[in-house]
Amino acid sequence: MPLIDVRGLRYRYAGAAADALCDVDLAVGEGEFVAVVGANGSGKSTLARLLGGLSRPAGAALAEVCGHDLRSDDGHFAVRRDVGVLFQNPDNQIVGSTVEEDLAFGLENLALPSPEIARRVDETLTRFGLDGLRTREPHLLSGGQRQRTALAGVLAIPRRVLVLDEPTAMLDPAGRDEVLAAVRREADAGMTVVLVTQEMDEVLLADRVVALAAGRTVFDARPAALFADTALLGELSLGLPPAAEVGLGLMARGALTELPLTLDDLVAALVSTP
Ligand SMILES: Nc1ncnc2c1ncn2[C@@H]1O[C@H](COP(=O)(O)OP(=O)(O)OP(=O)(O)O)[C@@H](O)[C@H]1O
Ligand SMILES: [Mg+2]
Repeated sequence: MPLIDVRGLRYRYAGAAADALCDVDLAVGEGEFVAVVGANGSGKSTLARLLGGLSRPAGAALAEVCGHDLRSDDGHFAVRRDVGVLFQNPDNQIVGSTVEEDLAFGLENLALPSPEIARRVDETLTRFGLDGLRTREPHLLSGGQRQRTALAGVLAIPRRVLVLDEPTAMLDPAGRDEVLAAVRREADAGMTVVLVTQEMDEVLLADRVVALAAGRTVFDARPAALFADTALLGELSLGLPPAAEVGLGLMARGALTELPLTLDDLVAALVSTP
């Protein structure tokens, strides 16, 4: 049974002339890591909000997330407990005046006993490498540290699915690496992850990539299959991962015969080329 199983998902913003989502299909199994890509306005953030129960679909043939029906009154509230959503800007998500207070906030809302909250805060600080920052004020931290705090706040509550909407878009390269490493570790530990991204090298972290165009699912396969389809990439206004861009240039000059996707692939191809 997939944890996310939505078919024909539709959503329209109040007062909008057209649907933001008109036909989205997405199935994600437990422990899978799926990237979601698409041009600006294709519906990625709308999908992220629906999956997290932050908006309610206008309709769907099927809209099950963690066993909750997103279309029902109860379901779209209950799903918020199981699905954690992290957005671009950590400052919109951090509520505590220190890192540890921020992590405690969601747990306090669950009305857990104090010793249990303290235990979970300690465990989460360690899990996200935040022990040394526990009494720091979030607004004085680096962008990467703030986003890592926001992520830890989302995951301090046990979740079944993590949805990330361009979580690195506001970060410098070091902050980006820091946050992606934390996401990768969660995925390796078995978390089910849906990562909305505009960064094609982030797509390579995922097992599968789903592309949206004008509110519809238009592609769903392994990342390598997307990057092999240059016509589709053009139609979707998507690029290639940085190493693949270089590789493409080398292929055009006859220096490589196969498209590398990662820096490791590129180096291996260059080393083995006579
Ligand atoms: N609050 C809103 N009210 C009305 N229309 C909206 C609202 N938010 C988004 N839309 C519209 O819904 C569609 C999907 O927007 P959405 O933000 O989901 O796209 P996106 O793929 O996340 O884009 P981006 O890459 O810019 O983040 C767009 O046509 C957008 O203009
Ligand atoms: Mg968006």
